[in-house]
Amino acid sequence: FKKMPLYGKKVLITAGPTYEAIDPVRYIGNHSSGKMGYEMTKTALNLGAKVILISGPTHLKLSHPNLELVKVNTAQEMFDHAMQQFESVNIAIASAAVSDYRPKTYQNQKVKKTEDTFRIDLVKNPDILKTFGQNKTHQFLVGFALETNNEVENAKQKLAKKNLDFIVLNSLQDKGAGFKNDTNKISIITKDNIKRFDIKPKPEVAQDIFNEILSFISDGKDN
Ligand code: C5P
Repeated sequence: FKKMPLYGKKVLITAGPTYEAIDPVRYIGNHSSGKMGYEMTKTALNLGAKVILISGPTHLKLSHPNLELVKVNTAQEMFDHAMQQFESVNIAIASAAVSDYRPKTYQNQKVKKTEDTFRIDLVKNPDILKTFGQNKTHQFLVGFALETNNEVENAKQKLAKKNLDFIVLNSLQDKGAGFKNDTNKISIITKDNIKRFDIKPKPEVAQDIFNEILSFISDGKDN
């Protein structure tokens, strides 16, 4: 009986979009399906970890004795739950497509279509991953970068700015990559290395990501 590679480890994963309410019926959101985060959750569970999955609204379902699934709507809720848990985890992976902004004020009643133009003032949401990076002690930290241009350069900047151990880059320029698809094409970028992977189904991409994490933490570089 071989010990599972992540037995005794706690993994925090954020997944899916966030919905920022405008009024009781409308919100600002994005096209994230949450698939990548849910697949990484399954992989971590299969490797023996305990997982806290903090998920924005998705149609996906998952249950497992070692899974704590926290469903949230807004970036602020995701931030609050994530910060509560961060201290106690060994690995944190931010795959959520968090809305950068939210409406400054929430309209209690449904907004009526009276005006020809309608303005919504937006204010910045907290950056969950950046705050992880600022508070990092022993945690191994993984971020995602979904880019449309200057991909590698932008990803490297995020790696540094958010104090990550590595960043997973997917480009919207690659067919079959990014959100909504069942496949993804990623590169894993560290401070001094870039590893490019072929396009493949998201469960296999999740496995590649954990193989990489395992190779780092078993090197004794962290945890
Ligand atoms: O800076 P940008 O939003 O492109 O960085 C993407 C990475 O940061 C992703 O890992 C995403 O989950 C994370 N993020 C976050 N909180 C935010 C914005 C992004 O955790 N408010």
